[in-house]
Formats: sequence, C-alpha cells, structure tokens
Amino acid sequence: MTEPTAPLASLIREETARRRTFAIISHPDAGKTTLTEKLLLYGGAIETAGAVKARRAAQSATSDWMELEKQRGISITSTVLQFDYQGHRLNLLDTPGHQDFSEDTYRTLTAVDSAVMLVDGAKGVEAQTRKLFAVCRRRGIPIATFVNKMDRPVRDPFDLLDEIEKVLGITAVPVTWPIGTHTTFRGVYERSTGLVHLFEKDATHGARKAAVQTHGLDDPALPGLIGAPELAQLKEDLQLLDDMLGFPDVDLIRGQLQTPVFFGSAVSNFGVQHFLERFIDLAPAPGTLATADGLTTEVTGPFAGFIFKIQANMNKAHRDRIAFVRVASGQFDRGMDVLLARTGKVVKLSHSSAFFAQERTLVETAFPGDVVGLITSGQFRVGDQLYVGQLPPLPRMPHFPAEFFASLRNENTAKYKQFHKGLTELAEEGAIQVLRNPDGSGDPILAAVGELQFQVVQYRLENEYGCQVRLDRLPYAASRWLAPDSVQDVRGVGRWARILVDSHGDTVLLFKSDWEMNYALEAVKGLLLSELPPAGALESIRV
Ligand code: G4P
Repeated sequence: MTEPTAPLASLIREETARRRTFAIISHPDAGKTTLTEKLLLYGGAIETAGAVKARRAAQSATSDWMELEKQRGISITSTVLQFDYQGHRLNLLDTPGHQDFSEDTYRTLTAVDSAVMLVDGAKGVEAQTRKLFAVCRRRGIPIATFVNKMDRPVRDPFDLLDEIEKVLGITAVPVTWPIGTHTTFRGVYERSTGLVHLFEKDATHGARKAAVQTHGLDDPALPGLIGAPELAQLKEDLQLLDDMLGFPDVDLIRGQLQTPVFFGSAVSNFGVQHFLERFIDLAPAPGTLATADGLTTEVTGPFAGFIFKIQANMNKAHRDRIAFVRVASGQFDRGMDVLLARTGKVVKLSHSSAFFAQERTLVETAFPGDVVGLITSGQFRVGDQLYVGQLPPLPRMPHFPAEFFASLRNENTAKYKQFHKGLTELAEEGAIQVLRNPDGSGDPILAAVGELQFQVVQYRLENEYGCQVRLDRLPYAASRWLAPDSVQDVRGVGRWARILVDSHGDTVLLFKSDWEMNYALEAVKGLLLSELPPAGALESIRV
C-alpha cells in the first residue's frame, strides 16, 4: 500500500504546516552570511554568533576542501540549515553568491517556498539580486525584503521602497520602519502593533541577542529616548506610509503583488527578531501555494521528491556525491525504496543526511519542505524525481541563462574516452552546460552562469578523469534559446550570433552584446528568443 494511513497523513499534514523552506537572495556583501547566522542565533541553533564563519575558516584550514577552494578561500559547498523557531521548523537553503554564483544558486530557488531579498541600505537593489528575484518571480513564490546595514549611512528609506517598486515591479510595503539611521539608528517601529522597539548596543558586537526596550508611540519617555525632532519625523513618516502604501496584506504578498519590508542591522542583531516573528506568518508552508512551476502537490500523498543539486565531493579520498532532495510530499524514511522516474528503477534510500554547515547527521525521517542529502556514487542527476506510487506533478529543472563561455580542448587525444565520459557526467550532474556546433564538429563550448564553474569542471576533468584540457574564454556575453514559435532557419542570424545546439539538440544562439542581440531580432523576421530552453527532459543529455 502506498497511500499513508489516516494517522500518518495527519502527522504529515501537521509537520508540513509548521515548515517554512526559504532562501536568502542578495548581492555579495549585502550581509547574507551575517543574517543567516543571526537567524540561527535567534532560532537557538547557535548560542553565539561568529560560529559559522569560524567553522568555515577552521574547515578550510583542516580538511576536505578541494585545493581550488583552499587556494581561493571560498566555500563552494552549499549548506542547508534547519532550525526551529516558535514551534516552526525552518529550512534555510543557501544560495552561493560570490565567485561561486552558479546554476546551483538558481536551482536552489526551485526548492524553496519563499525567499528573503536582502538589500544593502546604502546600495539598494543590485545586479545579482535582480537576477535571483526574476527566478523567484517566475516561480510565483512570495518574497520578503530585509533592508540591512541601517547602522551605516544609508539611502532614504522612501527612496529604497521606490527603487524596489520601479526596478522589480513589486509594491514594497514596510512591516517595520527604522528609527534613525547610521549613528542615530536606535530601533524599529512595528506598524502592526504600533510599538517602538529600541535596541541597546552591547559589548558583544552582536554575538548575543540584542536587548530591546518597547514603548508605545505616545509614551512620554520617548522624546527623551530618541529626541523630539526624530519622534516628530517618525510620526510624519508613518502618516505618509499609512496614506500612500497601506499595510502589508498576506494575500497580496502570496500573490507576489507586494513584498513586506523589514529594516535592520544584521551585524548588531537589530530588527532580526521582528523579522523572524513576522516572516513565519507571511511565508507559506509547503504545498499551500500553487506556484507557477506546479510544485504544489498533495503533501499528504505518498513520498515524492526531486533532486535540485548534486554536490561532488572534491576530496579524492571520498568520491561520493551528495544529491540534495527536496521532499515534496509524504514522509521520507531512511532506507525506504523509491522509484527513480528517469529510469523506472527501484532505489533504496539508505544513506541520507541532514546538514548543519559542514557537519552531517543522519536523517531518519523527513517531511514536505525538508531537504535530505543522499550520499550517492553517481546514480542521480539534477532534476531527478523520486517517488512512491504514482508520480505527482513535480517541477522540471530548467537550465538558466549562461553569461560566461569557453571552448574546451582535449589536449591528450589518447584520453578521448575519459574526456567524453567526464564531460557527459559533469553535464548530467548539472555542473556545466555543454554546447556544440550543429554538425557536431569542433571543440565543445562550455556555458556557465558563474566563472568558477569553468575552473571546477577543468579541475574535475583533470583530477577525477585524468584528462588534460585547455579552456579558452570566448567573448560572448549572453545566450538565448530559439523559442518554439520562432522561425527555425536561423542561418541569417550568423552575422550577429554564434549558432550552437545544447545537449538536448535545441538551438542556442550566443551574442557578444545586447546590442547585437537586438540587432539580430530586428534584422531577422520571425526570430523569437527565449532565456529558458524549450520544455524538455534532462534525461536526454548527450555531449
Ligand atoms: P555576504 O554573505 O552577503 O557576502 O555578506 P557578509 O555577511 O559576509 O557581510 C559582508 C560585510 O558586511 C561584512 O563585513 C559584514 O560584517 C558586514 N555587515 C553585514 N551586516 C551588516 C550590518 O547590518 N551593518 C554593518 N555595518 N555591516 C554589516 P566585512 O568587513 O567584509 O567582514 P567582517 O570582518 O565584518 O566579518
């Protein structure tokens, strides 16, 4: 029998209802690592902040990072952090953002039910945030905003709201409002309760939770605490907000018409707790929203999940890989037999783990919204669907538009077989997109979302497959797929674009600039381009 029994279905429903699975989207240096750590601090998962960074540093000094990672001092490994807060179980999926920005960053967003957009108050909406926001938008998931670094000289908060609306096309409605900025940043006003929360700086530099004093707006002590002119300004701002923007509305937030905005300073913990408290109400539980990609499944059904990321172990002594499965429905039990949709074969899920930073702990059970790491020797691929009973509608894992391109030459022809095998496996794993000339001639062209993907692929071909390869960067800046309803004869585009095919045989055009792309679109009648590949299965990858 595959359908859960009534008591099990009710347990699954309860467990799912308390889960919130989300990611933080931001531009490098906006404070994602800092905020992540502070969420863990307030969630009680760590006692003092500083531990995650310290752990990272210690790890890279000691052990099983690949050399590349050591040399550059960055973390390639994404982590899934699970912690509890006020009866809720939060799964925070890390989106690699610095040099390790890659397709994995985008793919992670297919496995979350909501996102937190972290904005540096001095910088506003930056490039990487815009790209990640677009992916969340396409999926139809709600997005909350945290404006960070309010303890620094920042832009006018009204300006920031305006920019979010103009650049991202979503109404930004504050949940909290800052009291002062930079050296006068004292706390936040909470619009739903009308309370002023003043934070006290302490000597721990944010290592411990911030002490808070709470006052009503009409508290006679308030002018003495924040200054009479500052209080008058706050009241004026609040009136303007009420008149202009109204209040956050859960339905509008879940419909992506609004983003609720919080202000704070992650480094000093100001505003973090208020954010967490409200976020758990505003963010949906798994399966409660019909997202654009059809992620919604009947959570109480039999087990189903999909693999959104495969992490290769860069340590030569441990060749295992970790396939990250997002549970979409049912209960996951360690050791259970499931069907792998791509092959139709039964697979036993015996090696499963959860993650805290780099530490693995064994997972016995998991529920919708959770992420389980399966230790595998290579039978899984990104986009694989695992299920019991009947396959529910799970999302397909799309490719994402690459911005970096390089040709890859096998320098040792005697190693042709290894080269081909390595490239096929790395493409299947989702480490890189492989493009070719339509007639199959010449060297393959690698397409990546982030530059580091090239180095990872080169390193792995050389170290895991014993190949010698040469990478030459190519001067293209954007790739587009030929849309299904476009003219299909694209020879006329050749003056402005390089014409290639991807591993599914779909036509891909590479452009050196937006200017050339626009020129081609104007010059070739009926040409229609798409940032995403035509809906197609990942299983037919060939390189
Ligand atoms: P990221 O993961 O988004 O790249 O950012 P990360 O948290 O590493 O933060 C980037 C820098 O911004 C860090 O400074 C961090 O301390 C600082 N920062 C984060 N949140 C705040 C905030 O609310 N206020 C202020 N003033 N600074 C903030 P760093 O000098 O690069 O590193 P560190 O030596 O402080 O760790």
